[in-house]
Amino acid sequence: MLRGKELWMAALAAVLISAVYGVVLLLTREIPPAADLFGHSLGIVGFILMLMTEILYSLRKRSRSARWGRMSAWLEFHIFTGLVGPFMVLLHTSWKFNGLAGVTTLFTVVIVISGLVGRYIYTRIPRSLDGTEIEGTLSEAALRQARRLMALWHTVHIPIGMALFVSAFVHIGAALYYATFLK
Ligand code: HEM
Ligand code: HEM
Repeated sequence: MLRGKELWMAALAAVLISAVYGVVLLLTREIPPAADLFGHSLGIVGFILMLMTEILYSLRKRSRSARWGRMSAWLEFHIFTGLVGPFMVLLHTSWKFNGLAGVTTLFTVVIVISGLVGRYIYTRIPRSLDGTEIEGTLSEAALRQARRLMALWHTVHIPIGMALFVSAFVHIGAALYYATFLK
């Protein structure tokens, strides 16, 4: 079901965004500052994509009666926004990682790596298009192990996401207060 299309799309988006970043870099001859129009926009749009990553898939997963879209498509979208959002936020940082903003960036990197690991485990388990497990090529013991690993992974990935958004909201509040409104 996950065939890797979403990874290619995310890579393509990253190349396009990098090209725009390169043009801005050449025109202004400086690393785009986090609080200037371009750097700020990268932070805001990237963060919105990350919020969508956090919320949309979980909502869809919890309303199985809903018909809007296949689960696999929602997970592909989760992965796409979960890669592109953090990439934009990384370009937003202006490559400085002081204080809480730096910690927020660290959480962001950790959740992306954790996501990639989760994607790997997830694709080991045979599933139908709506994401429910089906009979497949895995032996009973291997399936039980993959399920246990996936459950363990959830207990790591989800709290990291929560810590990330708590520190992100504090960073945003502080950054807006000190760097935007007080100027
Ligand atoms: C998860 C999302 C985000 C991360 C990881 C992040 C990370 C960072 C980092 C590492 C810096 C540089 C800090 C330094 O100078 O050492 C920064 C600066 C800044 N960020 Fe973010 N950011 C995020 C989202 C946002 C959003 C959504 C906004 C605005 C609504 C924002 C506004 C700012 C501003 C205004 C600065 C400049 C602060 C200054 O010049 O003192 N950030 N951010
Ligand atoms: C901003 C970054 C990300 C955030 C905030 C985030 C958050 C979450 C959350 C809250 C869940 C739990 C969904 C649920 O069970 O209700 C989840 C599941 C998952 N995420 Fe992410 N994620 C991010 C990035 C990624 C990335 C980059 C990947 C893959 C490359 C990924 C792969 C997965 C997988 C495979 C699941 C499990 C799906 C399932 O068991 O149904 N995530 N994510």
